[in-house]
Amino acid sequence: MPNTPAPYISKRSLAHRQMSKDDGQRGRLKDLPEITLSTVRAEAIATQLATDVHGTISAGKEATVFYALWRDFPLALKVYRLHATPHAKKGKRKKMGGGKAGFSKDVMSYWAAREFWILDRAFRAGVKVPTPARHIDNMFTARFLGDNVSAAPLLKDVTIEFPKRIFDEIIESVFALYRVFIIHGDLSGYNILFFNNEPWLIDFPQAIDFASRMGRHRTLKDGRPILLRDITNIVRFFERYGIVADPESLCDECMEQVSESDSFDPKTLIR
Ligand SMILES: Nc1ncnc2c1ncn2[C@@H]1O[C@H](COP(=O)(O)OP(=O)(O)O)[C@@H](O)[C@H]1O
Ligand SMILES: [Mg+2]
Repeated sequence: MPNTPAPYISKRSLAHRQMSKDDGQRGRLKDLPEITLSTVRAEAIATQLATDVHGTISAGKEATVFYALWRDFPLALKVYRLHATPHAKKGKRKKMGGGKAGFSKDVMSYWAAREFWILDRAFRAGVKVPTPARHIDNMFTARFLGDNVSAAPLLKDVTIEFPKRIFDEIIESVFALYRVFIIHGDLSGYNILFFNNEPWLIDFPQAIDFASRMGRHRTLKDGRPILLRDITNIVRFFERYGIVADPESLCDECMEQVSESDSFDPKTLIR
């Protein structure tokens, strides 16, 4: 976390941070209310992220994804809630004197803002990701991929009819992300939705974002092991369909697209 408040942290989050400073916790850990459907619904409606929130699609380690609506338009609402994980509670409970403890809301807001920003860049780069809609505090909305009844299945749970085409599309998405200085970092059949016969990439919190590092001492080459891991996961996944590819050479090909002198220009992102 930067020391100075980032512009994407809302006034409300800053108030939150201030409160936790005042109670001696220096903004990192504090008692927080549980996230429930009704608290999320109330907050999403109050902040105009959604006009209704219907239910949970998935409750993962750090975030819960809800099915929400903006009028008739279905949305996926992702709510970061590190504080609700057993992991976050375990180590910190003693220090906090018991009760529910975890990361404060501005830390979760940082993660939500970061994922939203990366999703936005991926979307503008033409990568098939759920169209990002809005971000507020520890929550963001994006296009809901699925039908009226349920969310689209994960790639790992479907039988793919044209595996070569889908494989090529996923690899092209990995290449396109890299061209805008992003490596997904957790790519597998678990983080790709199969919707309208196309692969859609989701879940970017582990992403490596080189755009923000270009002016520093790191180079794009630092990301090779992570890029290679993503590509290897995909190549291994498609072996069951008889597709043979060499992860190392795909990785090299991907990296050759960008030279170290290429820099990230945020002006190209203006809508
Ligand atoms: N835009 C979306 N449309 C439909 N379902 C989604 C969408 N985003 C996420 N999901 C569902 O929520 C689950 C968890 O989302 P994900 O972003 O992968 O979070 P986690 O960090 O919990 O894995 C996904 O596996 C998928 O089933
Ligand atoms: Mg996931």
